[in-house]
Amino acid sequence: MTREEALNSIKANVENGNLVKHMLATEAIMQALARRLGEDEEEWGLTGLLHDIDMELTGEDMNVHSKLGADLAKELGASEAVAHAILCHNPTHGIPRETRLDKALFCVDPLTGLIIAAVLVRPDKKLAGLEAKSVRKRFKEKSFAAGANREQISLCSEIGLELDEFIELGVEAMKGIAANLGL
Ligand SMILES: [Fe+2]
Repeated sequence: MTREEALNSIKANVENGNLVKHMLATEAIMQALARRLGEDEEEWGLTGLLHDIDMELTGEDMNVHSKLGADLAKELGASEAVAHAILCHNPTHGIPRETRLDKALFCVDPLTGLIIAAVLVRPDKKLAGLEAKSVRKRFKEKSFAAGANREQISLCSEIGLELDEFIELGVEAMKGIAANLGL
């Protein structure tokens, strides 16, 4: 499966532009993480790109979400490793996260939301001027973007990254695709 095929399938299954942007942001951070960790950039990118492809189809039913997504990814030709990471990123199923790819997707997912929220409270609403340290500050404010699960983000330690480095890597990766994110 090429990236273009994955993107076409996302366009066919997802109408919500913000959800598409969330998946693009997840892709960008997963690619940057793969580079940092010496992993397969293409595989990690695709995992991030496809991970919520079923969100509208499942009507956000958490008992189905990510099961259907993993099946769709496999139908598109994704590897078992990619499908497994997608499947276990929804903790509702209680499927253990085993590989580094599984663990990476799980902690990256909420980081995108925290960073986007940190951008949106800036007067210019632009990623360009956002500093990692201000995201770090927001991280500590529990009521800020409360949906961005801090414990889950902190699991970056399981893939060998300190929180500060993880946030910085995420901010830089998203800056690289700022235009696509409209931020
Ligand atoms: Fe997600």
